Amino acid sequence: MSTFVLAIDQGTTSTRAIVFDHSGSVVSVGQLEHRQIFPRAGWVEHDPVEIWNNTREVIGTALAKADITRHDIAAVGITNQRETAVVWDRHTGEPVYNAIVWQDTRTQPIVDRLARGDVDRFKDRVGLPLATYFSATKIVWILENVDGARERAEAGDLLFGTTDSWLLWNLTGGTQDGVHATDVTNASRTLLMDLGSCEWDEQIAAEFGIPLSMLPAIRSSSDAFGVIEKSSLLRDVPITGILGDQQAATFGQAAFDAGESKNTYGTGNFLIVNTGEEIVRSGNGLLTTVAYRLEDEPPRYALEGSIAVTGSLVQWLRDNLGIISSAAEVEELASSVDDNGGVYFVPAFSGLFAPHWRPDARGAILGLTRFANKGHIARAALEATAFQTREVLDAADADFGVPLTELKVDGGMVANERLMQFQADILGVPVVRPVVPETTALGAAYAAGLSVGFWAGLDELRANWQEDRRWEPAMSDDDRERLLREWRKAISKTLDWVE
Ligand code: G3P
Repeated sequence: MSTFVLAIDQGTTSTRAIVFDHSGSVVSVGQLEHRQIFPRAGWVEHDPVEIWNNTREVIGTALAKADITRHDIAAVGITNQRETAVVWDRHTGEPVYNAIVWQDTRTQPIVDRLARGDVDRFKDRVGLPLATYFSATKIVWILENVDGARERAEAGDLLFGTTDSWLLWNLTGGTQDGVHATDVTNASRTLLMDLGSCEWDEQIAAEFGIPLSMLPAIRSSSDAFGVIEKSSLLRDVPITGILGDQQAATFGQAAFDAGESKNTYGTGNFLIVNTGEEIVRSGNGLLTTVAYRLEDEPPRYALEGSIAVTGSLVQWLRDNLGIISSAAEVEELASSVDDNGGVYFVPAFSGLFAPHWRPDARGAILGLTRFANKGHIARAALEATAFQTREVLDAADADFGVPLTELKVDGGMVANERLMQFQADILGVPVVRPVVPETTALGAAYAAGLSVGFWAGLDELRANWQEDRRWEPAMSDDDRERLLREWRKAISKTLDWVE
């Protein structure tokens, strides 16, 4: 029997291939960043061909570093940045336009048109408000703005997919006999999937003017999607797992049951609370989404608090302000001052997502005095991540009715000790990091490995989860309340600016 599972993690800033062993430990990693394309303010694109080429290269790197071949790989899982929309020609394999990324806000006029004054008009069916974040309006934009796209789509020549589908189709042979499918978690982020039946909602698709022939087949998250084509280094290896990256992290954190949760600190932050077989409708600005679905089992649902800008704010400090030269330096700079000095940073670069859902909001730094320096700005940037997390956790507590007693965390920023301590302080509950921080890729590996019997079941996966580090809250209630009061004031002043 093969000894490893390989996961492809196609994220917002990079693509990685990670080889895992049976204990869920990382054996090797290949990683390449891709270009972030900003044609205009508010527009964010990726080149799908660059992402596909990078995927092939990182697979080679990961295999070479582990000194293994395809014969050692039992299965491949894919996880991906969700919502980002790729539309391509099924006959040539060429994208008709760059991928329009989840952070892109160009489709606000389309959202306004379709909302007819009520952004929640489809929420009961799909769990989501109408917003630029989700895939559907990005597809509509391509159909309306790329020459000939609508005619080609209506003739059945164009395919849509999130980046999982784009990679699956290419890995399984593309124009030859590429498999056009996605999993239920990715489909639940399009605005087009009925949450109850887990099928495309034909009426919504018709109202959006999206031909059903463009849409991928919706499958379980752990399923025999297809077999990798002949010219690949992974020839004949089956692809048996797909999960959107936040759901994959939930799976990798072994949060399989109702009431279990995780918070991932990536370019944005995404808190997911598993609600089991129950579809919980949020009254507090959270999304209802699918957590995962195993073959021949009912779907498991979740509430999600999506925050658009957290880690990407640190990149902004590096790339746009130049006050740090690497993301890791932010911790040192933030530690050069005793506290935030009264400075608050509301990073509403893509509007504000959960729980506010204000696409018109724009970023603001408040509370500046002659005393404030770059250390305070770095500190305020980090603290913004913790404050925003507190807002979505409060919303989840209110919706689900069971207050969370600790928060499992993962993602790049959890290496930041200062941030994690501040997070525990601001939440008032412990923050817990697992030994394997690569939970996103691990979740995809788990889904793939379960399908081929590499892992026997969820109990075996649960046993793999181990605690690495725990931060206990140490701040006084008075200090916490004061900081939260000032943060809320900063949010309200930021929103006043765009009223
Ligand atoms: O919803 C967007 C999310 O899936 C992107 O995650 O980690 O690629 O920034 P990440």
